[in-house]
Amino acid sequence: MVQRDHVPAFRVQTGQQAYEAVVNRGVLWRIQEFIPAHTGKVFLVTTQDVWDHFRASVEAQFPSGSLSVLFFPGGEVNKRLSRLEELAEQMMEAHADRTSLVIGFGGGIVTDVAGFLAAIFMRGVPVLQIPTTLLAQVDAAVGGKTGVNLKNGKNLLGSFHQPLAVLIDPEVLGTLPDREYRAGMFEVIKCGVIRDSALFALLESRADAVLAQQPELVDELIAASVRIKAEIVSSDEREDGLRRILNFGHTIGHAIEAETDYVRFLHGEAIAWGMLAATRLAELNSMLDSSTGDRIRRLICRYGPVPPAGNLDAARLLAKLSSDKKTIQGKIHFVLPVSIGEVKVVPNLDSALIRQAIVESLQ
Ligand code: GLY
Repeated sequence: MVQRDHVPAFRVQTGQQAYEAVVNRGVLWRIQEFIPAHTGKVFLVTTQDVWDHFRASVEAQFPSGSLSVLFFPGGEVNKRLSRLEELAEQMMEAHADRTSLVIGFGGGIVTDVAGFLAAIFMRGVPVLQIPTTLLAQVDAAVGGKTGVNLKNGKNLLGSFHQPLAVLIDPEVLGTLPDREYRAGMFEVIKCGVIRDSALFALLESRADAVLAQQPELVDELIAASVRIKAEIVSSDEREDGLRRILNFGHTIGHAIEAETDYVRFLHGEAIAWGMLAATRLAELNSMLDSSTGDRIRRLICRYGPVPPAGNLDAARLLAKLSSDKKTIQGKIHFVLPVSIGEVKVVPNLDSALIRQAIVESLQ
């Protein structure tokens, strides 16, 4: 961690770009500090509801005529190339050029779409990410993954396009619906399981205060998660090794999202189901003892409720796993916990056990 004007900022150092993820109440009011000199027009990609909440704070920081707002309809179903093309056409109509800057201002869907738009517009313009959901603050907006969905699965078109900076203002979570806040907490739980037993223990011991959104605690959890993400991405930008551990819960989670047409679950909720299934799979493979498995299950339930997944067909989910990005040359890779704070990436598990873990977890 570095201190930026006494504000916690986590350095992400990748081959493509070195930048800071700043976690600070009030950083939403300091956007101009992060826009390089000689930047041309600024194109802010957002959704109408986010804009309705924060328009006054953002517009006040831009000289008139220097900011164009591009509205994205929101939702996984709209995270498609056709929508991105529409945004690019709007940029051209507003006279964008290679000095333009894109700002992603919204949840993880918006930051993914804005990042991909920036990655391919005129072969690449810079992007500044300002995430407004907990999930995007602790995961999606940090690390440069951008993309859109195909019918066959999530984020199957995309690129790594690191931002100039990530501005994380926990104050903006005040307008976030409770369901979205809980969904984001599942990614924080993920960070605890994969890398940080103290974070996991904090989530256990202070659950009431976390769910009541006590500000110091929220800031601490976001900072802990961003620190983990920054460290992992800095050591493995393109997910050739260590970064894979961030996919704990995502193998089955992505299949659940695709199987339910991206509408029944928020991303974090599908990941909660995916983490439950991966935890059971680790037990069935004798990699995890049942008391640790119970701790993970209890913590996930504590941060629920998650919409039920009981009627999902295990065979269809299994079939979906093979079109996931994490499947390499036909081998499905699972991230499985071996203790709190440590996971292993395991290829080629017995499909009967995967099926058993799905059936026993998703009820
Ligand atoms: N969301 C997982 C990653 O950024 O690698």
